Amino acid sequence: MFEEPEGATPLDPDEIAGLKFKHITTRGELDELEQANIEQGLHWLARRRGGDILTDYFLRNLHVRLFGDVWEWAGSFRLTEKNIGIDPFQILVQLRMHLDNARHWAENGIYRPLEAAARFHHRLVQIRPFPNGNGRHARIAADVFLEDYYDHPPIEWASGFDLQADNERRDAYVAALRAADGEDFEPLLAFVTPRV
Ligand SMILES: Nc1ncnc2c1ncn2[C@@H]1O[C@H](COP(=O)(O)OP(=O)(O)O)[C@@H](O)[C@H]1O
Ligand SMILES: [Mg+2]
Repeated sequence: MFEEPEGATPLDPDEIAGLKFKHITTRGELDELEQANIEQGLHWLARRRGGDILTDYFLRNLHVRLFGDVWEWAGSFRLTEKNIGIDPFQILVQLRMHLDNARHWAENGIYRPLEAAARFHHRLVQIRPFPNGNGRHARIAADVFLEDYYDHPPIEWASGFDLQADNERRDAYVAALRAADGEDFEPLLAFVTPRV
């Protein structure tokens, strides 16, 4: 139904049925509604106080804040297999393991901040907790991780490009994630420079 850029998750019919705006027919309309919702979510994020962000509760709630006006299933874990991503029945246990690992990295200075954030981001999109919005959610989550656990500025993900469209920046991003799937983190580390 909607044209997806390279590396995106196609939605299945049940997931499309969860669209709260029944009149939408084009990718552009959907992008606009999602973008407006994300901006609301970022406002919520900026005003939020305290609370540990390395919990499955926080990550689900963040997904609701970013996508809950558009999708009924926002904040609910994926139930179907996708072209990328682990077995849906493994999501909760793998996600909790990942969050425990990330806390361990931060508390013990295992990686420098940007490397921790890059690894945090990569594993989160690899798990693919949600039917859609995983890339945008996990980029924002990595920035919150940097802020809360390292007091570090966020990553310059887009660098003037639209990361939701096919262009050289997205190609470099997806290629870096694929390299990281094979344990080569160098391209992703080169990609994640701080926002100034
Ligand atoms: N080979 C890969 N390994 C891990 N993650 C990937 C890979 N290719 C793409 N991704 C991630 O998946 C995201 C797309 O998933 P999707 O759920 O559609 O998120 P969004 O709707 O925010 O774009 C990309 O933005 C990227 O973060
Ligand atoms: Mg998508």
